[in-house]
Amino acid sequence: MQSNAALTSKIAVIGTGEVGSTIAYSLILNPVAGDILLVDPKTDVRDAQAMDLSDATYHGNTSTHVRTAEPKEAGQADIIVITAGAAQKEGESRTDLIGRNLKILSSAIEPMKPFREDAILLLVANPVDPLTYFAQKMSGLPKTQVFGSGTFLDSARLRGILAERSGVAASSIDAYVLGEHGDSQLVAWSHASIGGVPIDQVVSGEQIDKNGIAEETKKKAAAISQAKGATAYGIGGVAASLCKSILFDQRNIRPVSHWQEDLGVCLSMPAVIGREGIVRTIPMKLNDEERKNLEGSASSMKEIIQEAEK
Ligand code: 2OP
Repeated sequence: MQSNAALTSKIAVIGTGEVGSTIAYSLILNPVAGDILLVDPKTDVRDAQAMDLSDATYHGNTSTHVRTAEPKEAGQADIIVITAGAAQKEGESRTDLIGRNLKILSSAIEPMKPFREDAILLLVANPVDPLTYFAQKMSGLPKTQVFGSGTFLDSARLRGILAERSGVAASSIDAYVLGEHGDSQLVAWSHASIGGVPIDQVVSGEQIDKNGIAEETKKKAAAISQAKGATAYGIGGVAASLCKSILFDQRNIRPVSHWQEDLGVCLSMPAVIGREGIVRTIPMKLNDEERKNLEGSASSMKEIIQEAEK
């Protein structure tokens, strides 16, 4: 049931390409907001997306309205989802996009300022971790109000693979991918559980090849993009789910990219998500190997940020 707050709330989607329009479509099918505002300098595509998506709202099962908007109005929305950016070309890593997408991020953020005081910026564009860091700086919003989808999608992929291998529903599996939404990500196997029972007590080493599963999770986006050009539905569902957690103040725990004081970068760790954005980070104690990998992820993110700031 939609809360009243959600019915009057606004979600702005910046960038109306395949990912942005899929997020908007997911928000229509699972209505959480009164208005979805589409923003994109390519106004012909933006207008066509608004018309096409509106056609999905007339069947009566949703109270969500979709329309185009200018950046100034988008900056006053409850949630601003930033998807604008170039997608990876074959053989490119997400971090290879930093130069192009940092410029696009700046051109998207500047005209939206000043933001509504309690606005939440949700970064989806890649490389999502450095872009989350820069978006917070550019926006001037508090660090808790700017976060990225991060490894929430990778963690969903991991749970899907574990579900297949163990014959248990993904919703009964708790397993986190942490760190970078990219090549230096890590699986926190020491915290993985099935039905609340540590995973090693439920499935044998023969059933689940941890290294193989971690690699398969990490490479899933590239496998999909190679065949169909880019991913959209996975990130679309994840971003819509995060919007619901925010607008309904659900306090779900999700691994999202947000400022890590101890590491000095934005990376994914489990956090409580509510209307204020990052309500709190869950202090997850990692084993030595996991901590070393996380610090490795942080230092590669720091290098990218320092390079981009030159
Ligand atoms: C994904 O993981 C490309 O970051 C996008 O699907």
